[in-house]
Amino acid sequence: MLPTRPSAEARQLIALRRSAGKRGLSAPGPDADTLDELLTVATRVPDHRRLAPWRFLVFEGDAREAFNQRAVEIQKREDADATETMLADTSCYFTRAPVVVAVISSPDPTHKTPVWEQELSCGALCQNLLLAADASGWAGCWLSEWIAFSPGINDLLGLSQTERIAGFVYLGTAKEKPLERMRPDAAAKIDRWRG
Ligand SMILES: Cc1cc2nc3c(=O)[nH]c(=O)nc-3n(C[C@H](O)[C@H](O)[C@H](O)COP(=O)(O)O)c2cc1C
Repeated sequence: MLPTRPSAEARQLIALRRSAGKRGLSAPGPDADTLDELLTVATRVPDHRRLAPWRFLVFEGDAREAFNQRAVEIQKREDADATETMLADTSCYFTRAPVVVAVISSPDPTHKTPVWEQELSCGALCQNLLLAADASGWAGCWLSEWIAFSPGINDLLGLSQTERIAGFVYLGTAKEKPLERMRPDAAAKIDRWRG
């Protein structure tokens, strides 16, 4: 192990990273072996007391369409106000990318490491996955949408009472070059405490 790994390329990748748009992904995506490797890299994340308070659920091939159909049924059940357009959107959710990874926050509420810290580790995991994908030539996008907050979806995906969906990371090949996005003024977010 090295204490640091100076890399202008890695710095550049982080400085200029950009998500794909939600309709900006197409095939091919990483195959199963490549994805397993990516997910392994992503788990190298800060994790207080080594709890690994997260897990992945992968959607590939026909499982994506099967999910879409079940999600539409759940939306009809859970949201009386869901319009035809909303249902039509849902019916395409997971087929917007060749691979979708549900990142599940799986904290241990009885552990002395606060749940907040365990959840932050899961957020870092999502970002690590995006960066690892980017560095491997895959475009990605971290989305939640209503399916990250639905009891019916949680049930369908087998989440326990204490688990939550941190997000769905969509992975594939970028259809187009992304446009730059307005960035916050970082200087306005930085202050120095002077005692
Ligand atoms: C937890 C989380 C959930 C998100 N969910 C959505 C979403 O449901 N829909 C959406 O358009 N963007 C969502 N985003 C934002 C995109 O992932 C992305 O950050 C945004 O499009 C800006 O692109 P950038 O990552 O290149 O800055 C979410 C981001 C985070 C961190």
